[in-house]
Amino acid sequence: MSGSITIRFRKESGQQIEVQARPGISVMEAAVMNNVSGIEAECGGACICATCHVYCDQVTEGVLPEMSGEEDDMLDMASAERRATSRLSCQLRVSDKLENAVFVIPENQF
Ligand code: FES
Repeated sequence: MSGSITIRFRKESGQQIEVQARPGISVMEAAVMNNVSGIEAECGGACICATCHVYCDQVTEGVLPEMSGEEDDMLDMASAERRATSRLSCQLRVSDKLENAVFVIPENQF
């Protein structure tokens, strides 16, 4: 499928940023390319920093890939509270199934 996908990033303060993302890039890359603050992505997507931590909404249920052991381990080290909906956004690919998904950015990534 071609064309852009609309995804949203929401700060815990409630501020919401809507971005258009190309299918196939990571959710982290979509944030960085659109200057969304709060997704630090220090390791550039190598799954070794946990500064791209997000909380996923219900649109993503059953759509996101299984979490790898590496991602699971890194989430344990994330600065902000780990929740049932926590994922590392560098491990998530934009696809049409994520249209209108919301990713909440934790208050801190360090
Ligand atoms: S960018 Fe480092 S773990 Fe996602």
